[in-house]
Amino acid sequence: MTVLDRRSNRLGVWGWLGGGRWGMERYAYILHRITGLAILLYLLLHIVVTSFRVEGIYLWTGNGFLHSPVFEMGEYLVFAAFAYHACNGLRLVLVELGVAVGKPTEPVFPYKTSLNVQRPLLIGMMFLALILVAMGAYAELIG
Ligand code: HEM
Repeated sequence: MTVLDRRSNRLGVWGWLGGGRWGMERYAYILHRITGLAILLYLLLHIVVTSFRVEGIYLWTGNGFLHSPVFEMGEYLVFAAFAYHACNGLRLVLVELGVAVGKPTEPVFPYKTSLNVQRPLLIGMMFLALILVAMGAYAELIG
């Protein structure tokens, strides 16, 4: 058996999707990547769509192609993706700066994990994201 064989990804897609021993941080990371790419795609499409204005075509008003409940729902999903990405992104920035990760200790066996120390920040930020998503839904419904 070669080194490459031994390192092969036996978990398949689950290896990419599953939190495994990393727990909820792993899911937070996957969602961060998906939402980051989604809002990036939105930004590019937004530039294309609004650029039609140069030709006097307003796709998002009146009987424009994008002036429909489906695309309004899509707009809300972009907001929800952004709310999550921003909250989790701020958490990542704080963790990177050493906030809420606890004090560093000597790496003595059995090693301690800092995951439990920084998890309250993750839960707090997810709660904040949830509040923003709910507020967005409320604004969408009454708007
Ligand atoms: C409040 C606003 C935002 C914050 C705080 C934020 C924060 C972050 C952070 C900290 C990362 C690095 C994650 C890591 O290294 O693990 C990241 C990645 C990324 N962000 Fe943002 N971001 C914001 C807005 C945006 C916007 C508006 C876009 C798109 C237009 C975007 C697209 C991305 C993408 C594509 C990645 C790479 C994801 C990956 O490699 O998994 N972000 N963001």
